[in-house]
Amino acid sequence: MNFNDNIQEDGLYPRATLSDGLGRVHTSLRISVTDRCNIRCFYCMPLENVEFRPREELLTFEEIERFVRVGVLLGIRKVRLTGGEPLVRNNLSKLVEKLAAVPGIEELALTTNGILLAEQAVSLKAAGMQRLNVSLDSLSEATFQRISRRSGLQRILDGIFAARNAGFENIRLNAVAIRGLTEAEIVPLAQFSREHDFELRFIEFMPLDAENRWQAEQVLTCAEIRRVLEQQVCSLVPKPRNDPSQPAVDFTFSDGCGTIGFINPVSEPFCSSCNRLRLTAEGQVRNCLFSTTEWDARDLMRSGGSDDQLRELIRDCVMNKLPAHGVGEADFVKPLRAMYQIGG
Ligand code: 5AD
Ligand code: SF4
Repeated sequence: MNFNDNIQEDGLYPRATLSDGLGRVHTSLRISVTDRCNIRCFYCMPLENVEFRPREELLTFEEIERFVRVGVLLGIRKVRLTGGEPLVRNNLSKLVEKLAAVPGIEELALTTNGILLAEQAVSLKAAGMQRLNVSLDSLSEATFQRISRRSGLQRILDGIFAARNAGFENIRLNAVAIRGLTEAEIVPLAQFSREHDFELRFIEFMPLDAENRWQAEQVLTCAEIRRVLEQQVCSLVPKPRNDPSQPAVDFTFSDGCGTIGFINPVSEPFCSSCNRLRLTAEGQVRNCLFSTTEWDARDLMRSGGSDDQLRELIRDCVMNKLPAHGVGEADFVKPLRAMYQIGG
């Protein structure tokens, strides 16, 4: 092969492929920047006595940037910041600026609960953030409070529109669907998204809550939500799948107004095409939301480890990825960490 053939348009040579034992190529990195949050969704956090990591245990922006630079050379192309709630991390825009300047990142995205978005949308956009997912499970204040155990729905809605005014396009709304709680939200969320041209995604409730309350019966599946939407809103037409590792199953409404997606980790696991790697706020690398093992990148970086060693650590983590998460199987072991300690 001609040497020059390997040089990428972004000038990175040669970008490696981060492949696991089953040939799954990892191109997406989700980075939690804090385990703190300004609300307390029951599917993610305990209500009381939350044990947050002390500040010095969190990776610094420089450490995160270093990890990302190494990851990009291994083949990472997409970076998503998560939490906890990422916007409660001080000066997040400074990190965004650093990451936006790393050559080879094709998409820089953020998942937020939206509470602080009205204040930060302009600076995030200016720093180079490209895409936003906002968690919005409910349009009713009462249901919002039952889920999040705080108030704040109006701030979130203000945040979403502020983000659009700041120039964010293709804002996506993520709704966790829970049986016995959010059935009445399905139609209003769909209508709101259609009216205002937001992409809506329903996510099945996963066993990552801190209080061990998850039960299989609480999973409101994609099939059921589709039925409600088809009966009460409009029929749905499947969208062709461009990216096989993209977890959502997408549809357009047949009247041409709006698209809707479903993320079905429980009823239709997509592990066989997973391309994601995770970095927790304290610098532990995980190959799955449901991992019970972690690789300590923080210790390596703080003890003078080289980039080569960091690369090997990441490779080792990916190589050890299990074929599937096993939720619903008899021998499934729930991870010790809850969602806020992993990063959504
Ligand atoms: N099951 C499904 N989704 C969850 N999220 C947090 N915890 C869970 C869970 N147990 C979602 C949030 C947000 C994203 C970060 O992950 O609602 O959209
Ligand atoms: Fe906070 Fe998001 Fe967890 Fe809700 S799901 S408590 S918004 S981190």
